[in-house]
Amino acid sequence: MKKARKQSLRPVSAAATGHVAASSVASVSCAPRVGNYTASATFFVLIAVLAYLAHAELGYNHGLFSEGVYEPYADFRAIPKAGGPSRVDSGREIYASAGCVACHQPGGTGNPANNCPPLAKSDWVLAEGPSRLIRLVLGGGQGPITVSGKLWNGGVMTAFGPNLTDDQVANVVTYIRQAPEWGNDASEVTPDMVKAIREKTASRTTAWTPDELLKLPVTE
Ligand code: HEC
Repeated sequence: MKKARKQSLRPVSAAATGHVAASSVASVSCAPRVGNYTASATFFVLIAVLAYLAHAELGYNHGLFSEGVYEPYADFRAIPKAGGPSRVDSGREIYASAGCVACHQPGGTGNPANNCPPLAKSDWVLAEGPSRLIRLVLGGGQGPITVSGKLWNGGVMTAFGPNLTDDQVANVVTYIRQAPEWGNDASEVTPDMVKAIREKTASRTTAWTPDELLKLPVTE
């Protein structure tokens, strides 16, 4: 094995391979030459300028790539999903920016300190349909409420109808129903469902009481 390798490294004569010996082509101008060659500085400057322009074209105009594909993102979670961010992802942001998080907490655990019931695994949140939840978010809530067998009393939930669009309500209610980090997994809520309930309850000016909501169907 070692011997065979040594042999293959030995120079092979031109006659044996049938190739033309290097010495016979030395006079042909296109043959590679060994030696020092001084490249013009302009050449390197040109390469640098072209590299910069190519980078700038990709960076600012995305070259010929689609913006969604090429745009550099800070990390892979920032890359939008096909068709834009999902309802759950948008809803998670609204949950924080609209202020639900202040009362119901990041983990959806609720907060006994301000009589705020939990949303994670809540039987209200996971109901078959979202009709009562949509009313609660649009109009606010007040009065004793039993959530997953535990009675909560004395808290007041703000009305979000005036501040959130149908789309935003649909997203935030979808989020609380489907938050994977809370283990919730109920059906999606659409802006049409919110629009229908907003129209139906337009004349309502006071917060809903849980007793009132329990008399209404969960799906409609
Ligand atoms: C000021 C504190 C506060 C804020 C802000 C708030 N809630 Fe509530 N939430 C409450 C209280 C208190 C109740 C219980 C209401 C009752 O007794 O009728 C409640 C009840 C609920 C319920 C039904 C009960 C349960 O625990 O499942 C849901 C669903 C809910 N809130 C979702 C939201 C969403 C979504 C937002 C943001 C858009 C929000 N809440 C913002 C305090 C708040």
